[in-house]
Parts: sequence; C-alpha cells; structure tokens
Amino acid sequence: MKVVITGGAGFLGQRLARALLARGQLTGPQGRPEPIDTLVVFDAAAPAAPPADDPRLQVVRGDIGDRAALADVLDAETGSVFHLAAVVSAAAEADFDLGMRVNLYGTLAVLEACRALPQPPRLVFTSSIAAFGGELPAVVDDTTPLTPQTSYGTQKAIGELLINDYSRKGFVDGRALRLPTVVVRPGKPNLAASSFASSIIREPLLGQEALCPVSPETRLAIISPRRAVDALLHAHELPPEAWGAYRAVNLPALSVSVEEMLAALRRVAGSRPLGRIRWQPDPHIQRIISSWPAVFTSQRALRLGFQRDARMEEIIEAFIADELP
Ligand SMILES: NC(=O)c1ccc[n+]([C@@H]2O[C@H](COP(=O)([O-])OP(=O)(O)OC[C@H]3O[C@@H](n4cnc5c(N)ncnc54)[C@H](O)[C@@H]3O)[C@@H](O)[C@H]2O)c1
Repeated sequence: MKVVITGGAGFLGQRLARALLARGQLTGPQGRPEPIDTLVVFDAAAPAAPPADDPRLQVVRGDIGDRAALADVLDAETGSVFHLAAVVSAAAEADFDLGMRVNLYGTLAVLEACRALPQPPRLVFTSSIAAFGGELPAVVDDTTPLTPQTSYGTQKAIGELLINDYSRKGFVDGRALRLPTVVVRPGKPNLAASSFASSIIREPLLGQEALCPVSPETRLAIISPRRAVDALLHAHELPPEAWGAYRAVNLPALSVSVEEMLAALRRVAGSRPLGRIRWQPDPHIQRIISSWPAVFTSQRALRLGFQRDARMEEIIEAFIADELP
C-alpha cells in the first residue's frame, strides 16, 4: 500500500520516513499487515537530504492547501496518512493568516482528500500540548479541557475535533497525538517558541553559546525524537476499537525544568567542554511557554501502550549517538 507523510521533509517527518522504510509494513485499512510499496514525503520544502536512498520513496513538493496537489498524492492506493505539515507555534502566532491557512485549512484539506478515497485511510495527526493553556491544574489529566492560549494551539484543537468527527462519520480512521516539546532537535533554532529547549543542549555540546529566553525554573513537558516517532507508529497500529469515539491522547511526557536539563547535560558531558548559556529573558516566549502544561498523568496513553522517556540523561545520550558526528 501507499503511505503519505505530509510535512515529511521536516524534523519528525524525515525520522518517521526512515522508520517506516525500515519497518517495511503497516496495518492496512482492512486491519491486516500490508507491505509499504510507496512512501510519499509531501512537503512545501525540499528535505535537507533525501531521508533514504530507497526505490519506495517519493518526494513530492506541494502546498498542503492545494487540493489538486493533495488529490494527486492521496489516491486510491493510499492506506495511511501521517499528517505532520504545520507552521510551528511562534510562527503561527506571528502570522495569524499563515497559521490558519496551513494549520487549520491545511488539515481540513487533508481530511477532505482522505474522505474522497474509496476506503477510509488510517490518519495520524500531530496535535500539541499547546492545545492546553491558561488557568490549568498543576497536573493535566485526560479530562482537562482544551483551553489553548495561542492561535497554533487553537488550530491544533480544532484539528482534533475534526478528526473525531471525520472518524465518527467513517471518512477516516483518525488518531491525534498531543505531542509535548520534542527535544533534542538537531540543526538550527527554529520559530517554535520552545526552540530554546533544544538549543540549550545542542549548542553547548557543539561548543557554541546558546541563548535561553526563559528562567531556569521554567518547567516543560518533553519527549525525545525516538519516542515521538515510536508513538506515531504505535498510534497507527492500534486498532480503531482501542480509540473509541475520542481520537486524541496526551502522550506521556518527561517533566523537567530548564535547570534540571542543564544539570543533566553537565552530567552527560563529564569532562567534555561545553559552550555557555546566555540568559536573555524574552517575555513573549516566557508567556507562551508558561501557558503550556508541564506535568501530565497521561493515563489513557499509558493504558494504550505509549511510553515515556525515563531520564533527561538518556535523551541527551540518544542525541549524541543519533545526531552528533
Ligand atoms: N517538534 C515539536 O516539538 C512538536 C511539538 C508538538 C507538536 N509538533 C507537531 O509535530 C509536527 C511535526 O513537527 P516538526 O518538529 O517536524 O516540524 P517541522 O517544522 O520540522 O516540519 C513541519 C513541516 O511542514 C512543512 N510545511 C509547512 N507548511 C507547509 C505547507 N503549507 N504545505 C506543505 N508542507 C508544509 C514544512 O516545510 C516542514 O517541513 C507538526 O505538526 C508540529 O506542529 C511538534
């Protein structure tokens, strides 16, 4: 069968593409394992490097809002869609129209393209813990209402509701994962409000200075790239009955403060020299980050078999193993 990753040239999309090619098969729309004959990476941008040299891989450039381009890619052979294309948090906050176009209307376009298929595909959607915000309990559980305080979070929350309804109608078999901040992201800082959470680990390990716009006590919910990709695959493989009527779940997250992250970095680095952290408070970033929940119970996800990263040190060690020369 054919599998499509929207936003497949991005950070998680590329890692997911490699994991899917290595795995070679997925549960198809009939509930039986099927080989992946074609994997389409659909993205407005070209991947920095092709995720793999593999005859099953097709890289297609296009805009998520372009319904004709989506209809070309999402054809009758398509059994599964991973919808990752998005404009990240601070970028969607800075440009309301762009966020709405990509994060809301883009998701709707993907759902409509899926609805036009002869059989409903499995659809995995990357929502975000930014769907929560404002006055929150100290610990967020599976019954905490969605009260996003950013346009990005609002667009993700609407996407989740649409996925519930398109699943209820039988147009897709949808699953939405509320991802915590994925750390450590390689490369350069991006426009996500949480970009610093990767910078303060990555840059010091490369011997470079990192800017930290939030206070050391700031607490975040995080997940490693390895666990995030595992979660996308696990979400796909769960049978529809496991999800029931409510198709979104809070992924298990590791809760750490900025100072705990830096202490773990020093422990992992040992005698290796580290670039320094420059504290440069940014009230705008601090407000966005402080509006996101930092501690989750994630009981439903744990019952469904999703797993939590155990320790910050392991996340840093995995980054060194996977991404550093
Ligand atoms: N990385 C995180 O910490 C995190 C946390 C929570 C949720 N998420 C969600 O996970 C998904 C993947 O995140 P990521 O970190 O890989 O982001 P990313 O920015 O690296 O990748 C997103 C991809 O979407 C593509 N894209 C943007 N606009 C597009 C358009 N109009 N048409 C087609 N493609 C378009 C971009 O080119 C990019 O390659 C996103 O939906 C994001 O909102 C990520």
